[in-house]
Amino acid sequence: MSAIAQLHPVHPIREMIGQSVAMLNLRVLLAKVAKSHATTVLLTGESGTGKDLAAKMLHQQSERRTQPFLTITCTALQESLLDSELFGHERGSFTDAKAQKRGLLELADGGTVFLDEVGEMSPGMQAKLLRFLEDHTFMRVGGGQDVRVDVRVVAATHRDLQAAIEAGTFREDLYFRLCAVPVEIPPLRDRHGDISVLTDYFQMIFASEEHRAIRSVTKDALAKLNAHLWPGNVRELRNAVERAVLLCENTQLGPDDFHLMQPCVQGRHTQLPHPHQGQTTGGLPALARGGDREPADRTLYAVEQPRDHLLELPMQGLDMASLEQDLVVQAMQRTHGNQALAAELLGMTRDQMRYRVAKLRDIGLYSEGN
Ligand SMILES: Nc1ncnc2c1ncn2[C@@H]1O[C@H](COP(=O)(O)OP(=O)(O)O)[C@@H](O)[C@H]1O
Ligand SMILES: [Mg+2]
Repeated sequence: MSAIAQLHPVHPIREMIGQSVAMLNLRVLLAKVAKSHATTVLLTGESGTGKDLAAKMLHQQSERRTQPFLTITCTALQESLLDSELFGHERGSFTDAKAQKRGLLELADGGTVFLDEVGEMSPGMQAKLLRFLEDHTFMRVGGGQDVRVDVRVVAATHRDLQAAIEAGTFREDLYFRLCAVPVEIPPLRDRHGDISVLTDYFQMIFASEEHRAIRSVTKDALAKLNAHLWPGNVRELRNAVERAVLLCENTQLGPDDFHLMQPCVQGRHTQLPHPHQGQTTGGLPALARGGDREPADRTLYAVEQPRDHLLELPMQGLDMASLEQDLVVQAMQRTHGNQALAAELLGMTRDQMRYRVAKLRDIGLYSEGN
């Protein structure tokens, strides 16, 4: 078996941590799907949201848990290799095929195959996969006989497959087949409450692994982490906590121990290189805004807009004063009332922010805890 298609040891999976409503719902959904007879599941979500972890949980919680869980990443192999890894080959089917080889689908019989980055599959492989998903039979490369197996295929992608269909790179029929049981993992920035529990969890794990006497994370550090939008999702948070634990000189992790990724500038990322960053952050949204001042830790990103505007002016226009008030309230809420961080989020000085917050308090539009 190649290094790409690894047999994962069956061990108790660490939990999917999170207390947001989205995460609670996700855990319930995963448990339901795991126990169901569904043989095809599609996991979608940005890079780093936990798709690999979810796939492992689907296997661990299913009746298939005693059988193999095999992973293959479609981007890691060229088409012919992926073909023979997945479906196997007959002896002599190509120059190097000295003996018959069983593919992942056969090796995982009774278990689960995790097909990662399915959105990158070539058209030829998409057709073969669709055929397999339809009737659970396939032919080894160079073979003439159908092989039947009982495998659950958990496919994952960070791509927008509907956009890929429109672009003509992904088959619509395969999409509908994969979508029989869709599971979407929301980005970390939309999972209210998860950042602090995940931070505590990773801090505990890394402090214990590194034998560091770090006991907690300060309130200010948590405010900083909550204000960041985490384009690399849980992977980025995990790496940030790991690095903070390694570098911290105290018993508490403070804001300065966290070096967060820089926002991208004019459509390009200015990411701090990170020794543990395994993957890129994929489709990172465009820069919220440029400006001539780039504070060191500004972490504001905007959702990609169809045009070159940061915010499209609504047809009916808008009230600038209310918009500003609303943004100030949002920034204060996101930073849990930390005016310095809120000012940084909006590119203001602390004095400008203090003035605006005081005004909002006066007119009753903002109070701590709202
Ligand atoms: N809810 C979670 N609880 C604990 N760890 C998580 C959670 N989500 C992701 N992780 C961790 O974050 C990292 C990235 O997750 P992964 O499943 O590889 O993401 P993806 O496959 O979506 O890119 C892994 O180390 C994973 O264990
Ligand atoms: Mg992954």
